[in-house]
Amino acid sequence: MRTPIIAGNWKMHKTLPEAIEACRRLEEMVEDAKAEVVVCAPFTALSALKALGLNKIKLGAQNMHFAREGAFTGEVSPLMLRDVGMDYVIIGHSERREIFGETDEMVNSKTLAALDHGIDPIVCVGESLDQRKAGETEPLVKGQIQTAFDGIGAAEAVKVVVAYEPIWAIGTGETATAEQAQEVNAMIRATLAEIYDHETAEAIRIQYGGSVKPANITELMDKEDIDGALVGGASLKPEDFAAIVKY
Ligand code: PGA
Repeated sequence: MRTPIIAGNWKMHKTLPEAIEACRRLEEMVEDAKAEVVVCAPFTALSALKALGLNKIKLGAQNMHFAREGAFTGEVSPLMLRDVGMDYVIIGHSERREIFGETDEMVNSKTLAALDHGIDPIVCVGESLDQRKAGETEPLVKGQIQTAFDGIGAAEAVKVVVAYEPIWAIGTGETATAEQAQEVNAMIRATLAEIYDHETAEAIRIQYGGSVKPANITELMDKEDIDGALVGGASLKPEDFAAIVKY
């Protein structure tokens, strides 16, 4: 059985006092939730949030470099994230790919580096609206998965969380239907079964992300291959995020 995982991606939001307040309130509201709960906060808040000693909420970063250290001005390394006790790191979010030029190969390097440092990667994949309209969703997402998992053995692969996030559904209020999300998530699992085997593919958690809110989470989570959600906008308000966590 896969444990559902609901992760909040705060993106570039929240000052330190706001971050601390949000996590304290969230912790109270989700204490008894069955799903695993993750908050991916900005770098500047991570060590302070870790110091809160939260029980239920696990913490993650939103990006990292793949090198352990080096002359990479402005970057943060896997070693540094391990240092501040991160459980997770989001890799290859579509905003990183589109705005900051991250390639599938970089996503693969970062995924390998996270696993090497004992941090579980949440690897994002997904198509643009043009790509969907052109019927390219399946080959594109399949290719993203194949490259992301390149060189990762089955024992490590099961620690990876995949987030299917159609770009056209992110921050737009337009959610993929539960059927559309299920279709792609099932295809991702079939791809993982091709790369590894049935058992490994069944053990890997695959989230959906893109305008997830309290009103649509239940329908999404009812689907066989949707094991959780990566939540942007609706994760900023503890009440909304708690409602999603307790779908
Ligand atoms: P959204 O963002 O929930 O605001 O659509 C999701 C994401 O970017 O991970």
